[in-house]
Amino acid sequence: MEIDDIFGYAKLSVMQISSRVVAILSLTTLGHLASPDARSDETPMMKAIVAHEYGGPEVLKFEEVPRPEPKENEALVRVIASGVNPADPLTLSGKYAREFGTHLPLIPGYDIAGIVEKTGVKVTKLKGGDAIYGYPTFGGGWAEYDTVTEGEVAAKPASLSFTEAAAVPMGALTAWQALVDVAQLQPGQTILIHGGSGGVGSFAVQIAKARGARIIATASTANQDLLKQLGADVAIDYTKTRFEEIAKDVDAVLDPVGKETLARSYGVVKKGGIVMSLVARPDPVELKKHGIRGAGISVHPDAEDLAEIAHLIDAGKIKPVVTKVLPLSEGIAAQQQAETHHTRGKVVLRIADEPRN
Ligand SMILES: NC(=O)c1ccc[n+]([C@@H]2O[C@H](COP(=O)([O-])OP(=O)(O)OC[C@H]3O[C@@H](n4cnc5c(N)ncnc54)[C@H](OP(=O)(O)O)[C@@H]3O)[C@@H](O)[C@H]2O)c1
Repeated sequence: MEIDDIFGYAKLSVMQISSRVVAILSLTTLGHLASPDARSDETPMMKAIVAHEYGGPEVLKFEEVPRPEPKENEALVRVIASGVNPADPLTLSGKYAREFGTHLPLIPGYDIAGIVEKTGVKVTKLKGGDAIYGYPTFGGGWAEYDTVTEGEVAAKPASLSFTEAAAVPMGALTAWQALVDVAQLQPGQTILIHGGSGGVGSFAVQIAKARGARIIATASTANQDLLKQLGADVAIDYTKTRFEEIAKDVDAVLDPVGKETLARSYGVVKKGGIVMSLVARPDPVELKKHGIRGAGISVHPDAEDLAEIAHLIDAGKIKPVVTKVLPLSEGIAAQQQAETHHTRGKVVLRIADEPRN
């Protein structure tokens, strides 16, 4: 898979579309600080996956660090499980540390599901004992505790375990913000979803289905069954068939792949339709040539979106595909998987036992 560096997470480029998704997460916010130097005898400690230097998965250590203390507008969450995303190795690489403003040491993890332990004085909606799931802007989920603001979390879908809920936030929010906020996908429209078996694509297929759209989705041979199970009307094996032989005059394309896949996508969109990429800015020359719109998507934490996604999950319309559950100590293996760009559904780190009801 080819990607155009860290594009989407860092800067939003949206052409001719809603302004809501334009106010994007700046990557100065990525990377969660751990402060082991601040330790004193009284400091409560926690287990975490920590990087003290930038690099590949091998720089990650499983160690004890001070538990974060929530600021007045934050809640402290006891993390039960945390999802794994391609954003984790991107942050860890440090290649864009200046642009992103990331600092060491850092704890990866942008998806969490857990229980609110305590809240700062300015927190009004969350209270101790609440089961929540969400996307902490500063990451830090690969630890026994993390801090969040109220805008980053919502009530955990009641029908999911914490492990399943931790597979949802970043992938589902990305798909939701592209299909619902930007494309405003309507019943009866056709969407081409590349990488429909991946962390974002598996939610995109289900969200498109829930909105009554017709779905053409691509994945490799091993994932054709999954595309159909998720609700794709047409499944294309990109290793055997060029998607443009089947997808023609679609209303929208979701591209999590970039480069050649994006370049070949402009020609399959009908006039007035839209190409959305997660990894590159659509080319204005191609957009003009084909009379279509383009959007570079950049996901942002959003409590309202998370609540709507939870509603669809509890209504049985969306279900996360959890293909692997690893213990927190396996952070290196989790990063290696995220780097492959061929994950089927989601990988989740289980940090604590599922609480009994
Ligand atoms: N801009 C943003 O805000 C944002 C947010 C989330 C993610 N992203 C980026 O979006 C990308 C996807 O994220 P993800 O979580 O979905 O990753 P993922 O879980 O690794 O999934 C990647 C998907 O791409 C498919 N794929 C790989 N090569 C392909 C090709 N040539 N043609 C069609 N499909 C192909 C894979 O299918 P097979 O395994 O069957 O090959 C898999 O379904 C990553 O680069 C990530 O960094 C950006």
